Amino acid sequence: MEKNNQMILAIETSCDETAMAIIKNGQEVVANVVASQIESHKRFGGVVPEIASRHHIEQITVVLEETLKKANMTMDDIDAIGVTEGPGLVGALLIGVTAAKSLAFAYQKPLIGVHHIAGHIYANRLLKEFQFPLLSLVVSGGHTELILMREHGKFEVIGETRDDAAGEAYDKVAKSIGLTYPGGPQIDKLAQVGEDTYHFPRALMDDESYDFSFSGLKTAVINTIHNTKQKGEEVSNENIAASFQASVVDVLVSKTYRAVKEHDVKQLIVAGGVAANQGLRAKLEDTFKQEDVEVMIPPIQYCTDNAAMIGAAASIAFEQGHRASFDLNANPSLSLERYAKRSVK
Ligand code: KG4
Ligand code: ZN
Repeated sequence: MEKNNQMILAIETSCDETAMAIIKNGQEVVANVVASQIESHKRFGGVVPEIASRHHIEQITVVLEETLKKANMTMDDIDAIGVTEGPGLVGALLIGVTAAKSLAFAYQKPLIGVHHIAGHIYANRLLKEFQFPLLSLVVSGGHTELILMREHGKFEVIGETRDDAAGEAYDKVAKSIGLTYPGGPQIDKLAQVGEDTYHFPRALMDDESYDFSFSGLKTAVINTIHNTKQKGEEVSNENIAASFQASVVDVLVSKTYRAVKEHDVKQLIVAGGVAANQGLRAKLEDTFKQEDVEVMIPPIQYCTDNAAMIGAAASIAFEQGHRASFDLNANPSLSLERYAKRSVK
């Protein structure tokens, strides 16, 4: 192996995927393994933290073996270990953090803590080099944020949700029409065949901030379903899905457009599970096709939780000199800005 190749082993266990990856030089995926627990959580209508932790414990060594085998490597080939330290479910995060610390201690490798959202953003660097200033629209089950980056590893949150995250709203609306968890992809599919007949509200659309709000929209959808049923009329799930999606996508894209213009960014990055949404992808492409900004949306397997993205973010942190000590702990509510301000040690 060439000496100057940097190999990062990355671990992600913040929610319901036990994931590990090996990333070469920050941008090349050598191996990427994701063990999903979705089937175990489906019957409960969402992720059950205790069940998630138990699955991570069962899976973590199996996933490690598979990742090394896929890469045809041993721990000796690894230069550093990156792990999601937060935010996420504390019990779930702890499994990954403990595994990472154990490996770092046993094999004498540097340890790097990674913020989960930094990972979602850096998933895009697996496709192409970043150009600054860069704006990232992060839309996942737990987050809806507009993040401005002027350099690697520095994150400025310029807008965020005041209540529910976009993915959370998708999952709740899906549940209200009887769909199983996670509902986002199913609403997306229904929306393709429905029409925006209900014209749900677009919250904070004319507000000067870059903040979002989705809980009013979720309530409007649930009330509409309820009222329609009470009148003895049939609810069109396709039209509910299409109308809900039109409202979410309109707000996301219009705020993103304004932020792109105001900050004169070179690249727009879309990250997180909801970045897989077909309606959002189509509207973003259409809105920015005439604009002088490069829109980057990762392939679906890098939109939802994975460890390749954690490896990509860890690689930059490693180059910048960040090292975690063995007192690294799971931090369920770690803020991106606090993470970015951590000192180099
Ligand atoms: O990033 P992610 O895998 O996990 C978190 O960090 O939260 O995002 C999961 C979220 C879920 O709410 C799921 O319903 C949503 O992403 N999602 C989608 C789509 N695919 C996943 N939402 C809308 N349309 C999709 N195609
Ligand atoms: Zn995520």
